[in-house]
Amino acid sequence: MLPLRWLCLAVAFVTGGAHAVTVYQAPLGGLTPTSVAPNAVYTGAAAYDPTVLTAPPIPDPAPPTQFGVQLSNNAGNVSALTISPGGAFLGFSIEMSVVDQVLGLNGSRLQVPFLNLMTLVAERSGSVHIRVGGNTQEDAALVQSLPQNKIMEKQAVNANDPTQTPSLLYTPELLYLLSNISSLIDVKWYLGLPLNDTSNLRLAIAEYGESILGGNLLGLQVGNEPDLYARHGLRQSTYGPNDYFGEFAQVVQAMQADSNVKVNNNLIAPSVATGDWTPEDVWNTGFIDTYEASLSALAVEHYPDDNCAAIYGSAFGQLRDPQTVFPDYLNHTSALSIIAPYVNSTHVASAAGKPFIMFETNSASCGGFPGVSDSFGATLWLADYAMSMAAAGFSSALVHVGGQDVYYNPFTPPPTNQSSYHQWTIGSTFYAVLAIAEALGPISSSSTSNFQVIDLGANGGNEYTPGYAVYEGGTLARAVFINFMTDPSGANDLQVNLQVEEGVPANVQVKYLQSPSVGEHFNITWAGQTLGGQFASDGRLQGAQTIQTVACDTSANTCSITVPAPGLALVSFESSSSASYPTHTFATTATGATSTKVDPSVVATSNGSQGGGSHVGSTSRGKSQTSRGTTGVAPSLVMLAAMVLGAWMLGRTYAWRWP
Ligand SMILES: *[C@@H]1O[C@H](CO)[C@@H](O)[C@H](O)[C@H]1NC(C)=O
Ligand SMILES: *[C@@H]1O[C@H](CO)[C@@H](O)[C@H](O)[C@H]1NC(C)=O
Ligand SMILES: *[C@@H]1O[C@H](CO)[C@@H](O)[C@H](O)[C@H]1NC(C)=O
Ligand SMILES: *[C@@H]1O[C@H](CO)[C@@H](O)[C@H](O)[C@H]1NC(C)=O
Ligand SMILES: *[C@@H]1O[C@H](CO)[C@@H](O)[C@H](O)[C@H]1NC(C)=O
Ligand SMILES: *[C@@H]1O[C@H](CO)[C@@H](O)[C@H](O)[C@H]1NC(C)=O
Ligand SMILES: *[C@@H]1O[C@H](CO)[C@@H](O)[C@H](O)[C@H]1NC(C)=O
Ligand SMILES: *[C@@H]1O[C@H](CO)[C@@H](O)[C@H](O)[C@H]1NC(C)=O
Ligand SMILES: *[C@@H]1O[C@H](CO)[C@@H](O)[C@H](O)[C@H]1NC(C)=O
Repeated sequence: MLPLRWLCLAVAFVTGGAHAVTVYQAPLGGLTPTSVAPNAVYTGAAAYDPTVLTAPPIPDPAPPTQFGVQLSNNAGNVSALTISPGGAFLGFSIEMSVVDQVLGLNGSRLQVPFLNLMTLVAERSGSVHIRVGGNTQEDAALVQSLPQNKIMEKQAVNANDPTQTPSLLYTPELLYLLSNISSLIDVKWYLGLPLNDTSNLRLAIAEYGESILGGNLLGLQVGNEPDLYARHGLRQSTYGPNDYFGEFAQVVQAMQADSNVKVNNNLIAPSVATGDWTPEDVWNTGFIDTYEASLSALAVEHYPDDNCAAIYGSAFGQLRDPQTVFPDYLNHTSALSIIAPYVNSTHVASAAGKPFIMFETNSASCGGFPGVSDSFGATLWLADYAMSMAAAGFSSALVHVGGQDVYYNPFTPPPTNQSSYHQWTIGSTFYAVLAIAEALGPISSSSTSNFQVIDLGANGGNEYTPGYAVYEGGTLARAVFINFMTDPSGANDLQVNLQVEEGVPANVQVKYLQSPSVGEHFNITWAGQTLGGQFASDGRLQGAQTIQTVACDTSANTCSITVPAPGLALVSFESSSSASYPTHTFATTATGATSTKVDPSVVATSNGSQGGGSHVGSTSRGKSQTSRGTTGVAPSLVMLAAMVLGAWMLGRTYAWRWP
């Protein structure tokens, strides 16, 4: 039985809708798929759940499969907010308590697959933004050392907190771990100031974070979903936006009074879950004007649904059937309805000159849904959601990574005791991160990276066939079309007839995000390349990259673009001389050209020379030598160094392994 207190919370859950809950102590039994799942009895961790759902039938009436889209080359004709992501539009939010599993054991033992995955994103976008935090940041406390040289240790669970967040002790080594990653790849970090007790603020994360990470620290989040504090029993029941306003002032004052904190303008707030408060409830306290000088960005967090009943029982709502939930993620209405509560706030933020960030999001809180959150349907859903956020004026969004007890991870390391013979499992949503990194990535490192994204309302606004135009630096650069339907016969592939007001180019380049079904977990390709099946990835793309060149009819002013059912097409209007995306494989001859500590024997045994589609990117060691403006193969010195150093750092346990 749930304690009475929990029942009260349960009522709040039911009436309050979805919000971010990361599960730490999910009873495995509670996470087994329901009887509707084709492969019914699975009792392992959620992250490896094999449940495959059936693609919904073609809607009746089916959307028209041929439609025209008229674009203008000139962003002067469009009214979208200008956004400057400053890196990949989609970054990651990594729950603080899983850092030692996902990023590495310490500053000298980095997870090589993680480095490779981040390289894939960084080469497409110049930088990857990662938030380390979540519910666990609130009770986290820095200590100088822990037994067995661990970098973190979970303490007893706070029984009053329905997220069962363990309080966390961590050492400065955690920050060296982040810093060492940034020294290899262009990764920048957001951290969270613990706010469980504002009368006794712990600013160590600011002091150490600033001194260890320097310019790689993007900002500090003050409060994780404060609108749920009262509901979760973390504050008195009357806790409201004005109380949060007051606590924020305490943080600002404490930081100014702390001589070890030098940066005082990098705070991020209010990170409401839009559960019990709207963002406007916070703006209306005068928050932005009052704290203008302390704030570097405004943020919210949101999950469109929750699967809490599967974990906490029927007191937390009705148990949801994943097959029935699935169609909710397979249309553009989903993205539009998630974003609707924030459209006003993106304008408020823009007027205040602050970026507006979706700081933590994923398909559903309480771990997501089996077969939904880990499917190609979720890939398309996240891609559409990201493009819709960009069109609404969000500057970036961070995809949440939980532990092994969630279905929605974009990547999951093997269980610790299987790390000697298993590799990582790449979740379907990681492919959306790659595709969006290219759709909203800078054409070249010298680019201003100012984007305007237009939701085209394509195909008469049909919810199964959304489309977007991307303007970079005021000029039409790309277009994205999504087909949410599954039809292997090809009868529901779309034919999009693109017209450009000023005339179409002679040809355009098209990349596809593809899979046989929205139910698929692993047979997913981005431009022909994949990260493979369960327990099978070292974080490098496999296979040859395929880019279609589509000849346009310049006299009729049309380019005809096919969008498979299901799939996403990324159309690039850049002239062919500059339109090739990175296609580089690091060269085996590139050894020794780095100052990094490298154990040369690792090169021979690591199989790092096999290539397999790894690419060079902009890294903190210097700008990319291989922007989209170049073609051909350039050696990735930095990447090779990263892999070799990483393999060396990780030693036998995590070194390259090929099954
Ligand atoms: C687009 O802008 C150009 C000049 O900036 C103007 O001549 C043209 O009429 C505009 N087109 C539309 C559809 O507004
Ligand atoms: C890092 O972790 C490895 C593996 O546990 C350990 O051998 C090494 O001593 C650790 N390094 C530090 C600096 O704690
Ligand atoms: C990596 O982390 C260790 C701490 O474990 C630190 O001593 C070392 O200097 C770091 N290396 C770099 C390149 O930052
Ligand atoms: C806040 O967190 C710290 C560290 O986990 C803990 O020691 C302290 O008791 C907590 N305070 C409150 C009021 O919960
Ligand atoms: C937008 O937010 C501001 C600040 O909270 C508020 O004053 C205004 O009424 C809101 N506008 C709309 C249309 O909701
Ligand atoms: C489309 O998605 C919305 C929001 O997720 C959902 O409520 C609706 O039922 C879906 N439409 C169909 C036809 O499945
Ligand atoms: C790995 O650890 C889990 C949980 O502790 C245990 O159930 C399982 O038997 C272990 N597997 C192996 C191969 O040791
Ligand atoms: C993967 O999907 C492609 C179509 O996208 C199909 O041709 C191929 O047979 C599938 N491979 C596997 C192993 O299912
Ligand atoms: C290196 O990897 C490739 C591709 O997986 C494999 O074919 C080859 O046998 C591996 N070589 C060694 C020495 O393990």
